[in-house]
Amino acid sequence: MSIPIYTYDAIIVGAGLAGCAAARELQNVGKKVAVITKLHPLRSHSGAAQGGVNAAFSDEDSVELHEFDTVKGSDYLADQDAVEFLCKNAPETIRWAERMGAAFSRTPDGKIAQRPFGGQSSPRACFAKDRTGLTLLQTIYEQALRTGVKFWDEWYVADLIYKDAKASGVIAFNIRDMKVAIFNAKSVMFATGGYARCFKINSNAHANTGDGLSIVARHGLPLEDMEFVQFHPSGLSGNGVLISEAARGEGGRLINSDGDRFMTKYAPNAMELASRDVVSRAILNEIREGRGVGPRKDAVFIDLTHLGRDLIMQRLPELRDLAITFLGLDMIKEPILISATAHYSMGGIPVNIAGNVRKNNNEFIEGFYAAGECSCVSVHGANRLGANSVLEALLFGRYVGKTMVEEIDDIELRVACEDDAKTALAELDWILSNNGDEIIANLREELQQCMTANAGAFRTKETLDIAVAKVKELRTRYQDVRIKDKSKIFNTELQEAIEFGHMLDYSAFIVESAVARNESRGAHFREDFNTRDDENFLKHTMAYMDKNGEISLNYMDVILGKHELKARTY
Ligand code: FUM
Repeated sequence: MSIPIYTYDAIIVGAGLAGCAAARELQNVGKKVAVITKLHPLRSHSGAAQGGVNAAFSDEDSVELHEFDTVKGSDYLADQDAVEFLCKNAPETIRWAERMGAAFSRTPDGKIAQRPFGGQSSPRACFAKDRTGLTLLQTIYEQALRTGVKFWDEWYVADLIYKDAKASGVIAFNIRDMKVAIFNAKSVMFATGGYARCFKINSNAHANTGDGLSIVARHGLPLEDMEFVQFHPSGLSGNGVLISEAARGEGGRLINSDGDRFMTKYAPNAMELASRDVVSRAILNEIREGRGVGPRKDAVFIDLTHLGRDLIMQRLPELRDLAITFLGLDMIKEPILISATAHYSMGGIPVNIAGNVRKNNNEFIEGFYAAGECSCVSVHGANRLGANSVLEALLFGRYVGKTMVEEIDDIELRVACEDDAKTALAELDWILSNNGDEIIANLREELQQCMTANAGAFRTKETLDIAVAKVKELRTRYQDVRIKDKSKIFNTELQEAIEFGHMLDYSAFIVESAVARNESRGAHFREDFNTRDDENFLKHTMAYMDKNGEISLNYMDVILGKHELKARTY
C-alpha cells in the first residue's frame, strides 16, 4: 500500500484559538500551512470559553497587578518571566483581536467592557456576553481562512514524526474513510487542548482526550506539572457543564442548605471571587459536611435572581439557556444548582516562552512547538486565574506562530518516508483486529469514576495509591480490548479506542506526579500534607514514560521574579 505524503512548511495540530492564531501568522508571511483537526474548527473547545479574556486596560488596573494576581493565583508555581510576557502583551493582543473583527461587549461610552473574575484585583475580563471564546474563535478562524490556511477537518493525528530531537511531521487518518496520510513539514505545532475528560464530572468537550500529550509522551518526552488539574467552582449539578465564572463576576451568590452565604467562612474578603481552587474546595466542603442541596444533596445554590432579567439577558443569556435546558431551572426566577467540575489542565507539554518544546530541562526539540492548553509554559502554575486561558491560547498561539516564522528558514526539511507511519498503522491494525473481552465505554467509566473519587479536588496518598493501581489495572485490561465496528467509514468506536489509550497514558502521569508531591499547592490539595512546602516542592514536575509505560519523575526549577513568595489568602 502506498501512503500519500503531503508536504508543507508548517503543520499545526488543533484548530482552536492557539492553532488558528499561529496558522494565520505563518500563512500571512507566505508560508504554506496545514491545520489538521479531528473536528470542524468551530467545534474546537476554545469556542466553549464563556466568561472572558484578561487584559489590564483600565485606569485602576495595571500590567503589574495582572502579573501579581496571576503569580499569586498560581500559588507561586508559575514562571514569572512567562507571566510577565503574558500580562505585558495582553492589552495589545485584545486590540489585535478587535482589529481582526472580534465584537466585544462595550461600556455605555464605547470602551471594551470588563467584568470582575476570581482572584483579580480589578475588573479585567473583556467579554462578548457569555460567548467570548466562540466570538474569538469565529473571528480568528475566519482570518486564517482568509489568508489561505489549508484546514484538514476531521482528520485524526495518530503520531508525531520524531527522530533525533527533531520533529518533521505527523501521521494522520481521515475519520471519514480511515485513509492514512503522512504530513511532512519543517515545523510542527501542537495545539491539541486539555485533558480534564479523565474525570467523571467535567466541563470539557467530548473531544478533549489529551491526544497531543500522550503522543508526545510515547516518544519518551516529558510532560510537566500534570498533577495540577483545575476544578471550576460552577458546573451544572449532575453533568458538570460550565456555568461561567461570569455568573459570580456579575454578582452571583453561593448559598448552602442552611441558607448561608458560606464563602464568608472561606474567603471573607474576596467571597465568591476568590481563586477557583479556593471556591471549589469551599463548595465541596459544604457538601461533604452535609450542607448540600438538590435531590442528591451534592450541589450548592448559585443565586442570581437579584441581578434581574435585563442584566441576565444582556450578559448571561447562554448560561440561562444551559440551566433551563439541563436542569429546568430559570436563573431569572430561582437559584440554580452547581458544584465543582474538572475544567482545565495546568500541566502539559513543556515549552519555553517562544513555544519550543523541551526534550528535557535543558534541551529543546528542533521544529517542534506547542501552545494553548496542551502546553505548559508555565503561566498558570498550580492554579489558573479565570480568563487567563483564552488569553494564553490567543497570545501564545500568535507569538509561537511568529517564532515559527523566525526559525523556519533555518530548519532543513527531513523528508518523510512510509516507514514513519509504521507505529500509527500498527496501532490501527491492533485495535481493529484485537479480539479481547474489554469494552472501551466500560473501561472509560471505571477510569473516570476512579479519578473523580481518588484524584479529584481533595487527595491523599491513600486515595492516590488507589488511583495509581487502578490506572495500571486499566492499562493492562486495555490490551484486551475489542471493538464491534470493524468498518472503515466514520468508525468512531475505533477513534474512541485510540483516544482512550491516550486518556490512560496521561492519567498515569497525573496520579504518579500527584502522589509524589507531598504538599498542597493551588489545585493540588493533599489532605495529608495540607500546606504549601516551598522548601521541598517549589519546583515543576517533569515526568517521563518509558517503553514499558512506566513513569519516572524529575523536577525543574521555577523561574522566580519580583513577586515574592507569600502565604495566599483571599
Ligand atoms: O468561567 C468561565 O467563563 C471560564 C473561563 C476560563 O476558564 O477562563
